[in-house]
Amino acid sequence: MDQRKAEAKPSAAALREEIARLEQHVAQAEERRRALIHIMGDLNESNRKLGEQRKAMLHILEDSHQSNQKLGDSRKAMIHIMGDLRETTQEMERREQELREKQEQLVQAGKLATLGELTTGVAHELNNPLNNIGLFVGNVLDQIRLGRFDAEAAERELENAMEQVRKATVIISHLRTFGRAASVTFEPADIDEVIEHSLLLMQEQLRLRGIEVVLDLCAEELVVFGNPIQLEQVFVNLLTNARDALEDARTKRIWIETTRDEELITIRFSDSGPGIPRELEQRIFDPFFTTKEVGAGTGLGLSITYSIVKEHGGEIAVEQRDGRGAGFWIELPALLDQETLA
Ligand SMILES: Nc1ncnc2c1ncn2[C@@H]1O[C@H](COP(=O)(O)OP(=O)(O)OP(=O)(O)O)[C@@H](O)[C@H]1O
Ligand SMILES: [Mg+2]
Repeated sequence: MDQRKAEAKPSAAALREEIARLEQHVAQAEERRRALIHIMGDLNESNRKLGEQRKAMLHILEDSHQSNQKLGDSRKAMIHIMGDLRETTQEMERREQELREKQEQLVQAGKLATLGELTTGVAHELNNPLNNIGLFVGNVLDQIRLGRFDAEAAERELENAMEQVRKATVIISHLRTFGRAASVTFEPADIDEVIEHSLLLMQEQLRLRGIEVVLDLCAEELVVFGNPIQLEQVFVNLLTNARDALEDARTKRIWIETTRDEELITIRFSDSGPGIPRELEQRIFDPFFTTKEVGAGTGLGLSITYSIVKEHGGEIAVEQRDGRGAGFWIELPALLDQETLA
């Protein structure tokens, strides 16, 4: 029984020991609790950071989505632009074709204008041989009427009349060729001959105005590969311009000079007129540029001249002659002998 009491009533020392053990236990629990709180805090912090990172990720995802969309948009825009570009290119090609056609029409229109202008001169030119024919035939008629027929003298008169008929025929047949639509066929063309033909068309107009033409032609035969009628138009245009420029000039002279330097033929047209002001040099080749009065000039002459020279693989420019009238030089590639044979 005592022993049981003793067992039921623990000794104070045992109790103290028990208390100490319990206190230690509590302290350990407290420590663990603190550690736990600490860990919880850390966890929270990590959670918060994770949350932030998640948000950032979402943001990045959204951004990349947007970039993707933007890329898609840009791709679409590019495809669109490519389509536009193709259309623009096609449009450009169409325009170029149109321009070429217009230019051809211009060449023809310019030619007809020149032709109209020439008609006045040609009337004079034909008038002259017709008058002469009248005179020569009249002489023969007089002989017959007056009973003084002389066969030899009559033959001379009639031969003279025939010569005049031939002259008139040449002028007319030449005008017909000139007026024909631009045939773009190229052939070996003799520059001397082309110059001669343009002078034939212009000579009466120049003579009536007291304009002297001075020729300084190269001794060699100058042949180019081109269209003689178009080249003739070039020279007629330059002669017409010189004619107009010399209207009020005291000395009325036009120089035509040809030279050859290996593969290049140079043709110079100059006159003793007032010349071309430097500030106009760049503009005179523009279509419709004219300093002439309304109705007097179309301003097409030099622009047509320019395109014809270009079509012949050549160059044309104003030559500065400092107060000594206007000068133009034209350079054309010479047709070499081998090419003629080929
Ligand atoms: N030899 C020249 N001397 C002085 N000015 C010239 C000469 N040639 C051309 N010009 C100037 O260049 C301009 C343009 O010449 P272009 O032949 O193109 O037209 P245009 O002669 O005025 O008219 P169109 O030839 O249609 O009758 C002329 O108006 C003139 O001002
Ligand atoms: Mg002109």
